[in-house]
Amino acid sequence: MSDNPRVSRKPVIAGNWKMHGTAAEARRLAAGLRQRLAGKRGDREIVVAPPYTALGAVADELSGTPIEIGAQNVHWEARGAFTGEISAAMLLEIGCRWVIVGHSERRQLFGETDENVKRRARAAIAAGLAPIVCVGETLAERDANRTLEVVERQLRGALLDLGAADIRSLCIAYEPVWAIGTGRTATPEQAEEVHAEIRRVVADLVGDETSDRLRILYGGSVKPDNIDSLMKEPDIDGALVGGASLEVESFARIVEFRS
Ligand code: PGA
Repeated sequence: MSDNPRVSRKPVIAGNWKMHGTAAEARRLAAGLRQRLAGKRGDREIVVAPPYTALGAVADELSGTPIEIGAQNVHWEARGAFTGEISAAMLLEIGCRWVIVGHSERRQLFGETDENVKRRARAAIAAGLAPIVCVGETLAERDANRTLEVVERQLRGALLDLGAADIRSLCIAYEPVWAIGTGRTATPEQAEEVHAEIRRVVADLVGDETSDRLRILYGGSVKPDNIDSLMKEPDIDGALVGGASLEVESFARIVEFRS
């Protein structure tokens, strides 16, 4: 790890709106964020990921602001008979720069695997989108002391065959499944342990230089009252925020974390 990692790792705060908001509702939330976060310093990246149907409205509302747009998934093919799927080019055209892949809800509820998470991440990178690749263990896996093994498997599965240049364009989000939407956040120490391990695995895959620059976000019940202590940890470089990203004040306070 570099002596002063923060110098080279700009924090990212990303809001995952999940399946919340019609286009009109999402536009109102985006307008609130625009007003509240208008003059933000450029020392942190701010991203919101609305549902697909609201991307156009939110991109329009946030154009010219420091808040960037992400999607919640992407398909690996450029086009074709894939009912219900969305391609990277479609996301770019509508104004996305980011895309979440491998979220635990996709893995658990919609059968996504390490293999297809990798394909999604690769397609996103090839198209010029920055993927946020999610990994994280279930409660049963943590209780069985398998956290690091599971996260390492997911990470190697998603990053296998990617080169250092590809990995430089993505972020990892560590999201313990037991902390998502439960109000039960990992302690900063629990999160830091896994983040440091993620950085070690990535160093093993593509070397220290790339892993030192990799931004690793924490996700799972991030709130205004726990963001500061999470961001004090040396390997936590940002947050992927679900529930607390749906209100202007709570998301803004998370963006304004003090570390
Ligand atoms: P949460 O969701 O903040 O509501 O726990 C986080 C996520 O699923 O990305």
